[in-house]
Amino acid sequence: MPIEIWLQQGSIYGMKKDWFLKFWSPLYREKIQRNMANITVPETRLITNGKAIPLLGFGTAEHPFGSAENVKERLLDAIQLGYRHFDSASLYQSEQPLGKAVAEALELGLINSREELFISTKLWCTDAHGNRVIPALQRSLKNLGLEYVDLYLLHFPVALKAGECKLPVLKEDLLPFDYDGVWKAMEECHKLGLARRIGVSNFSCKKLEKLLSVAEIPPAVNQVEMNPLWQQQKLREFCKEKGIHVTAYSPLGAKGSFWGTNRVMECEVLQEIAKAKGKTLAQICLRWVYEQGVSVLVKSFNTERMKENLEIFDWNLSLKELNKIRQIPQKKGFAGLEFVSQDGPYKSPEELWDEEI
Ligand SMILES: NC(=O)c1ccc[n+]([C@@H]2O[C@H](COP(=O)([O-])OP(=O)(O)OC[C@H]3O[C@@H](n4cnc5c(N)ncnc54)[C@H](OP(=O)(O)O)[C@@H]3O)[C@@H](O)[C@H]2O)c1
Repeated sequence: MPIEIWLQQGSIYGMKKDWFLKFWSPLYREKIQRNMANITVPETRLITNGKAIPLLGFGTAEHPFGSAENVKERLLDAIQLGYRHFDSASLYQSEQPLGKAVAEALELGLINSREELFISTKLWCTDAHGNRVIPALQRSLKNLGLEYVDLYLLHFPVALKAGECKLPVLKEDLLPFDYDGVWKAMEECHKLGLARRIGVSNFSCKKLEKLLSVAEIPPAVNQVEMNPLWQQQKLREFCKEKGIHVTAYSPLGAKGSFWGTNRVMECEVLQEIAKAKGKTLAQICLRWVYEQGVSVLVKSFNTERMKENLEIFDWNLSLKELNKIRQIPQKKGFAGLEFVSQDGPYKSPEELWDEEI
């Protein structure tokens, strides 16, 4: 039986897993390290703190949330292949398998220390209330089995009635977002050492301005949808000016998920560039995002596609190709209609995204 399968099951020929790990894992480690992809993901430094952020990260949102099998094993594959940046969220139900994968990667010697990883997770909207932020992060840390996250993000500039996460979101649960109270609690998470950095996700320029006006610690990151069909030029310029690092999500359009669109993977301009260049369309998207100077998160639970997505660092797009991509008509994939209601704080998608849609 291959060792990988046995490690998932916990015993072989009566031999205990712990015993094996103690005495034989150095040999297994060598075998794994020989098989490890020779890819090192480039890193950038976050402006508010010296720790580096790997520019290509691994997404863990599977539609429907929590539906994928063997997630821990897929995450271990990803670590083995060279991914070091992992993006989770309490909403995705991926914190527990991620925590288990990190613990096992340490046991197996795939990584020497937790410090080698950059791990982010997010506060869901039902916890976007001043008094619920720290307990929510403590719960996430318990799920992850970690003492701190590298980055804690507000998932949306949206508050829902306090309580359990319910999907689909109930429109009557939508409440005004308390910038001051929620961000103060996020700052406290940082001061307590529970989050090395704090940041936001899905914030427009206008909402960032509002947050910056109350923030003692500015957000280190804004994680937003970004791909060749939604290039976020204005938001990126704004973030650059304010020293906020941008991380791109749904770089392939998140085809097949309720928040995604098929338009990216079916875009003819991208198909033509990919064919002429001998690359896949996914690689063209990822390389394009990377060349914009932001970090990018991509999710695949398929080992071949995980490898394919890492192979973007030893070639580049030509000016002609970049120009063609620049001219692709723009359309946002995720409209966030679940957060819009006539009786709620955002009456239209334009109010939610401040016209950046
Ligand atoms: N902050 C937010 O509000 C927010 C929103 C969305 C996403 N995110 C984060 O960003 C991560 C990435 O975004 P995403 O998951 O929305 O979308 P994505 O990475 O653009 O797309 C994921 C989809 O593309 C497929 N795929 C991956 N690599 C491929 C390849 N080389 N060729 C063809 N298909 C490929 C995956 O299927 P297989 O698994 O079968 O390969 C999956 O169906 C998420 O997982 C999550 O961590 C954050």
